[in-house]
Amino acid sequence: MNYALPEWLDIGPVEQLPALGARTLPVQGGDEIAIFRTATGKIYALVNKCPHKAGPLSQGIVHDTTVTCPLHNWRISLVTGKALGDDAGCVPTISVKIVGGRIMLARAEALAGAQVDVA
Ligand code: FES
Repeated sequence: MNYALPEWLDIGPVEQLPALGARTLPVQGGDEIAIFRTATGKIYALVNKCPHKAGPLSQGIVHDTTVTCPLHNWRISLVTGKALGDDAGCVPTISVKIVGGRIMLARAEALAGAQVDVA
């Protein structure tokens, strides 16, 4: 039988993320993803690697729609993944939608960095 893979991955309820909080999602063979919740309840997902020296953005401080990297304080846009201010660089973002109170990630974007064997 041939099952179509879902376009969106259900990664759990929105309530699992406190406001201004983050969690991580491992990707087998790829880059870990960081999922953030802002003070206003918006959810964003980025590869969990600062564009400067790969600091874990999930451990940074969220304010408005930015996260401050815990290593050297670069500010990264949660919307675009771009470094702000005088800093340059960009981390991939993953599209998110909320369906029935659950967080859904765009499958292809979430697995973009993974080496997936499709035999
Ligand atoms: S690794 Fe993020 S600011 Fe340096």
